[in-house]
Amino acid sequence: MTVTGSTPEGAQSEQEASRWVRAMFGRVAHRYDLANHLLSANIDRTWRSHTVRRVEDILMRPDARVLDLACGTGDLLMALERAAKRPLLGSDFCHPMLTGASSKLSRAALRSRLFESDALALPLEDAGLDLITIAFGFRNLANYRAGLSEMRRVLRPGGALAILEFTTPPNRAFAALYNWYSRRVLPVIGGAISGAPEAYKYLPESVRKFPEAPNLAEMMRHAGFDSVDWEYLTMGIVALHLGRVGD
Ligand SMILES: C[S@@+](CC[C@H](N)C(=O)[O-])C[C@H]1O[C@@H](n2cnc3c(N)ncnc32)[C@H](O)[C@@H]1O
Repeated sequence: MTVTGSTPEGAQSEQEASRWVRAMFGRVAHRYDLANHLLSANIDRTWRSHTVRRVEDILMRPDARVLDLACGTGDLLMALERAAKRPLLGSDFCHPMLTGASSKLSRAALRSRLFESDALALPLEDAGLDLITIAFGFRNLANYRAGLSEMRRVLRPGGALAILEFTTPPNRAFAALYNWYSRRVLPVIGGAISGAPEAYKYLPESVRKFPEAPNLAEMMRHAGFDSVDWEYLTMGIVALHLGRVGD
Protein backbone atom coordinates (compact mmCIF):
# COMPACT_ATOMS: atom_id res chain seq x y z
CA MET A 1 0.00 0.00 0.00
CA THR A 2 1.50 3.36 -1.01
CA VAL A 3 0.43 6.11 1.38
CA THR A 4 1.87 9.59 1.27
CA GLY A 5 0.03 11.11 4.19
CA SER A 6 -3.35 12.12 5.53
CA THR A 7 -5.97 12.38 2.79
CA PRO A 8 -9.20 13.99 4.01
CA GLU A 9 -12.08 13.55 1.58
CA GLY A 10 -11.94 16.13 -1.19
CA ALA A 11 -8.37 17.29 -0.56
CA GLN A 12 -6.49 17.39 -3.88
CA SER A 13 -2.98 18.17 -2.63
CA GLU A 14 -0.83 18.00 0.50
CA GLN A 15 -1.44 21.72 1.06
CA GLU A 16 -5.21 21.21 0.95
CA ALA A 17 -4.99 18.17 3.25
CA SER A 18 -2.92 20.16 5.72
CA ARG A 19 -5.29 23.15 5.63
CA TRP A 20 -8.32 20.87 6.13
CA VAL A 21 -6.71 19.14 9.13
CA ARG A 22 -5.71 22.44 10.77
CA ALA A 23 -9.16 23.96 10.28
CA MET A 24 -10.87 20.79 11.55
CA PHE A 25 -8.83 20.76 14.78
CA GLY A 26 -9.57 24.46 15.12
CA ARG A 27 -13.30 23.66 15.11
CA VAL A 28 -13.11 20.85 17.69
CA ALA A 29 -10.45 22.39 19.99
CA HIS A 30 -12.94 23.68 22.60
CA ARG A 31 -14.41 20.19 23.11
CA TYR A 32 -11.35 18.11 22.20
CA ASP A 33 -10.45 16.90 25.71
CA LEU A 34 -14.01 16.02 26.68
CA ALA A 35 -14.59 14.03 23.46
CA ASN A 36 -11.24 12.25 23.85
CA HIS A 37 -11.78 11.14 27.42
CA LEU A 38 -15.40 10.10 26.85
CA LEU A 39 -14.84 8.22 23.61
CA SER A 40 -11.88 6.30 24.98
CA ALA A 41 -13.47 5.79 28.44
CA ASN A 42 -10.40 7.62 29.81
CA ILE A 43 -8.01 4.95 28.49
CA ASP A 44 -6.20 7.70 26.56
CA ARG A 45 -4.66 8.82 29.87
CA THR A 46 -3.04 5.40 30.36
CA TRP A 47 -1.66 5.46 26.79
CA ARG A 48 0.03 8.78 27.49
CA SER A 49 1.42 7.74 30.89
CA HIS A 50 2.77 4.54 29.33
CA THR A 51 4.51 6.66 26.69
CA VAL A 52 6.10 8.80 29.40
CA ARG A 53 7.47 5.67 31.10
CA ARG A 54 8.89 4.33 27.84
CA VAL A 55 10.90 7.52 27.16
CA GLU A 56 12.07 8.05 30.75
CA ASP A 57 15.68 7.09 29.99
CA ILE A 58 16.07 10.28 27.95
CA LEU A 59 13.40 12.42 29.59
CA MET A 60 14.99 12.22 33.04
CA ARG A 61 18.39 13.44 31.84
CA PRO A 62 18.50 16.99 33.26
CA ASP A 63 19.93 18.49 30.07
CA ALA A 64 17.74 16.60 27.57
CA ARG A 65 15.91 18.85 25.11
CA VAL A 66 12.43 17.45 24.64
CA LEU A 67 9.69 18.44 22.19
CA ASP A 68 6.11 17.17 22.25
CA LEU A 69 5.11 17.64 18.63
CA ALA A 70 1.47 18.13 17.55
CA CYS A 71 0.89 18.65 21.28
CA GLY A 72 -2.72 19.76 20.79
CA THR A 73 -4.23 20.77 24.12
CA GLY A 74 -1.13 19.53 25.92
CA ASP A 75 -2.06 16.35 27.80
CA LEU A 76 1.11 14.44 26.90
CA LEU A 77 3.28 17.53 27.32
CA MET A 78 1.91 18.04 30.83
CA ALA A 79 2.52 14.39 31.75
CA LEU A 80 6.08 14.67 30.40
CA GLU A 81 6.78 17.90 32.32
CA ARG A 82 5.40 16.41 35.55
CA ALA A 83 7.72 13.40 35.19
CA ALA A 84 10.77 15.45 34.18
CA LYS A 85 10.07 18.18 36.78
CA ARG A 86 11.27 20.88 34.39
CA PRO A 87 9.82 22.85 31.46
CA LEU A 88 9.91 21.24 28.00
CA LEU A 89 8.75 22.32 24.55
CA GLY A 90 5.39 21.80 22.90
CA SER A 91 4.37 22.68 19.38
CA ASP A 92 1.33 22.43 17.11
CA PHE A 93 0.13 24.15 13.92
CA CYS A 94 -3.40 24.78 15.18
CA HIS A 95 -3.73 27.98 17.15
CA PRO A 96 -6.94 27.13 19.09
CA MET A 97 -5.40 23.82 20.26
CA LEU A 98 -2.33 25.72 21.52
CA THR A 99 -4.56 28.24 23.28
CA GLY A 100 -6.16 25.31 25.12
CA ALA A 101 -2.70 23.94 26.00
CA SER A 102 -1.55 27.30 27.26
CA SER A 103 -4.54 27.69 29.62
CA LYS A 104 -4.13 24.17 30.95
CA LEU A 105 -0.39 24.65 31.56
CA SER A 106 -1.04 27.88 33.50
CA ARG A 107 -3.86 26.35 35.55
CA ALA A 108 -1.55 23.46 36.51
CA ALA A 109 1.37 25.84 37.24
CA LEU A 110 3.49 24.11 34.60
CA ARG A 111 6.02 26.06 32.59
CA SER A 112 6.63 24.27 29.28
CA ARG A 113 7.02 26.62 26.31
CA LEU A 114 4.72 26.43 23.32
CA PHE A 115 5.33 27.47 19.74
CA GLU A 116 3.16 27.33 16.65
CA SER A 117 4.66 25.45 13.75
CA ASP A 118 4.08 22.84 11.10
CA ALA A 119 5.68 19.50 11.94
CA LEU A 120 6.81 19.30 8.31
CA ALA A 121 8.88 22.49 8.59
CA LEU A 122 10.11 22.94 12.16
CA PRO A 123 11.81 26.25 12.97
CA LEU A 124 14.59 24.34 14.74
CA GLU A 125 18.28 23.78 14.05
CA ASP A 126 19.63 20.42 12.94
CA ALA A 127 20.42 17.93 15.72
CA GLY A 128 19.25 20.17 18.56
CA LEU A 129 16.80 17.83 20.35
CA ASP A 130 17.17 14.63 22.37
CA LEU A 131 13.58 13.45 22.33
CA ILE A 132 10.48 14.00 20.22
CA THR A 133 7.11 12.59 21.21
CA ILE A 134 4.03 12.80 19.02
CA ALA A 135 0.68 11.45 20.21
CA PHE A 136 -2.20 11.04 17.77
CA GLY A 137 -0.66 13.71 15.55
CA PHE A 138 1.48 11.72 13.14
CA ARG A 139 -1.49 10.12 11.32
CA ASN A 140 -2.68 13.63 10.42
CA LEU A 141 0.51 14.74 8.67
CA ALA A 142 0.09 15.46 4.97
CA ASN A 143 3.31 13.56 4.21
CA TYR A 144 4.54 10.83 6.59
CA ARG A 145 8.00 10.39 5.06
CA ALA A 146 8.60 14.14 5.05
CA GLY A 147 7.48 14.27 8.70
CA LEU A 148 9.86 11.47 9.73
CA SER A 149 12.74 13.05 7.88
CA GLU A 150 12.08 16.44 9.54
CA MET A 151 11.98 14.76 13.00
CA ARG A 152 15.19 12.89 12.20
CA ARG A 153 16.82 16.17 11.11
CA VAL A 154 16.21 17.94 14.44
CA LEU A 155 17.21 14.98 16.64
CA ARG A 156 20.81 14.60 17.73
CA PRO A 157 22.79 11.34 17.93
CA GLY A 158 21.59 9.35 20.94
CA GLY A 159 18.13 10.90 20.61
CA ALA A 160 14.79 9.16 20.16
CA LEU A 161 11.37 9.51 18.58
CA ALA A 162 8.19 8.10 20.15
CA ILE A 163 5.03 7.91 18.02
CA LEU A 164 1.79 7.05 19.82
CA GLU A 165 -0.92 6.52 17.25
CA PHE A 166 -4.13 4.68 16.46
CA THR A 167 -3.57 1.60 14.35
CA THR A 168 -5.35 -1.43 12.96
CA PRO A 169 -5.71 -4.12 15.67
CA PRO A 170 -3.81 -7.27 14.61
CA ASN A 171 -6.67 -9.60 15.64
CA ARG A 172 -9.01 -9.45 12.62
CA ALA A 173 -12.18 -10.32 14.58
CA PHE A 174 -11.48 -7.59 17.12
CA ALA A 175 -10.50 -5.22 14.29
CA ALA A 176 -13.93 -5.80 12.69
CA LEU A 177 -15.71 -5.02 15.98
CA TYR A 178 -13.60 -1.93 16.56
CA ASN A 179 -14.16 -0.87 12.97
CA TRP A 180 -17.92 -1.05 13.54
CA TYR A 181 -17.61 1.06 16.74
CA SER A 182 -15.41 3.66 15.09
CA ARG A 183 -17.54 3.97 11.94
CA ARG A 184 -21.02 3.76 13.45
CA VAL A 185 -20.86 4.87 17.10
CA LEU A 186 -17.89 7.21 17.32
CA PRO A 187 -19.04 9.72 14.64
CA VAL A 188 -22.45 10.02 16.32
CA ILE A 189 -21.14 10.59 19.87
CA GLY A 190 -18.04 12.55 18.79
CA GLY A 191 -20.12 14.67 16.43
CA ALA A 192 -22.67 15.44 19.15
CA ILE A 193 -20.02 16.40 21.70
CA SER A 194 -17.87 18.48 19.40
CA GLY A 195 -20.51 19.86 17.04
CA ALA A 196 -18.23 18.77 14.17
CA PRO A 197 -19.40 15.36 12.86
CA GLU A 198 -16.96 15.55 9.92
CA ALA A 199 -14.05 15.36 12.41
CA TYR A 200 -15.28 12.04 13.79
CA LYS A 201 -16.00 10.71 10.32
CA TYR A 202 -12.44 11.62 9.30
CA LEU A 203 -10.94 9.89 12.37
CA PRO A 204 -11.82 6.23 11.50
CA GLU A 205 -11.11 6.90 7.81
CA SER A 206 -7.66 8.25 8.62
CA VAL A 207 -6.90 5.24 10.84
CA ARG A 208 -8.05 2.84 8.11
CA LYS A 209 -5.72 4.49 5.58
CA PHE A 210 -2.79 4.75 8.00
CA PRO A 211 0.09 2.25 7.56
CA GLU A 212 -0.14 -0.78 9.85
CA ALA A 213 2.40 -0.94 12.70
CA PRO A 214 5.07 -3.04 10.90
CA ASN A 215 4.89 -0.69 7.90
CA LEU A 216 5.27 2.42 10.04
CA ALA A 217 8.30 0.79 11.69
CA GLU A 218 9.77 0.20 8.22
CA MET A 219 9.17 3.83 7.28
CA MET A 220 11.00 4.92 10.44
CA ARG A 221 13.99 2.71 9.58
CA HIS A 222 13.97 4.12 6.08
CA ALA A 223 14.06 7.66 7.52
CA GLY A 224 17.26 6.79 9.41
CA PHE A 225 16.00 5.62 12.80
CA ASP A 226 17.74 2.66 14.45
CA SER A 227 16.54 0.04 16.93
CA VAL A 228 12.97 0.70 15.80
CA ASP A 229 10.44 -1.21 17.82
CA TRP A 230 6.74 -0.99 18.59
CA GLU A 231 4.16 -2.41 20.94
CA TYR A 232 0.41 -2.64 20.70
CA LEU A 233 -1.67 -1.16 23.52
CA THR A 234 -5.30 -2.01 24.39
CA MET A 235 -5.60 -4.95 22.00
CA GLY A 236 -3.90 -3.03 19.24
CA ILE A 237 -6.23 -0.04 19.01
CA VAL A 238 -3.09 2.00 19.52
CA ALA A 239 0.60 1.37 18.84
CA LEU A 240 3.62 3.01 20.39
CA HIS A 241 6.65 3.12 18.09
CA LEU A 242 10.11 4.01 19.34
CA GLY A 243 13.11 4.77 17.17
CA ARG A 244 16.61 5.85 18.13
CA VAL A 245 19.18 7.99 16.39
CA GLY A 246 22.51 6.18 16.35
CA ASP A 247 25.52 7.77 18.10
C1 LIG B 1 -5.58 14.26 17.65
S1 LIG B 1 -4.74 15.72 18.10
C2 LIG B 1 -3.59 15.13 19.31
C3 LIG B 1 -3.18 16.18 20.30
C4 LIG B 1 -2.34 15.69 21.46
N1 LIG B 1 -1.03 15.27 21.03
C5 LIG B 1 -3.01 14.61 22.24
O1 LIG B 1 -2.41 13.56 22.47
O2 LIG B 1 -4.16 14.81 22.64
C6 LIG B 1 -3.73 15.95 16.70
C7 LIG B 1 -2.97 17.26 16.72
O3 LIG B 1 -2.02 17.23 15.67
C8 LIG B 1 -1.90 18.54 15.18
N2 LIG B 1 -1.29 18.49 13.85
C9 LIG B 1 -1.75 17.80 12.77
N3 LIG B 1 -0.93 18.01 11.73
C10 LIG B 1 0.06 18.82 12.16
C11 LIG B 1 1.20 19.40 11.54
N4 LIG B 1 1.47 19.18 10.25
N5 LIG B 1 2.01 20.18 12.27
C12 LIG B 1 1.73 20.42 13.58
N6 LIG B 1 0.66 19.93 14.23
C13 LIG B 1 -0.17 19.13 13.52
C14 LIG B 1 -3.33 19.06 15.18
O4 LIG B 1 -3.40 20.45 15.10
C15 LIG B 1 -3.84 18.49 16.51
O5 LIG B 1 -3.66 19.39 17.56
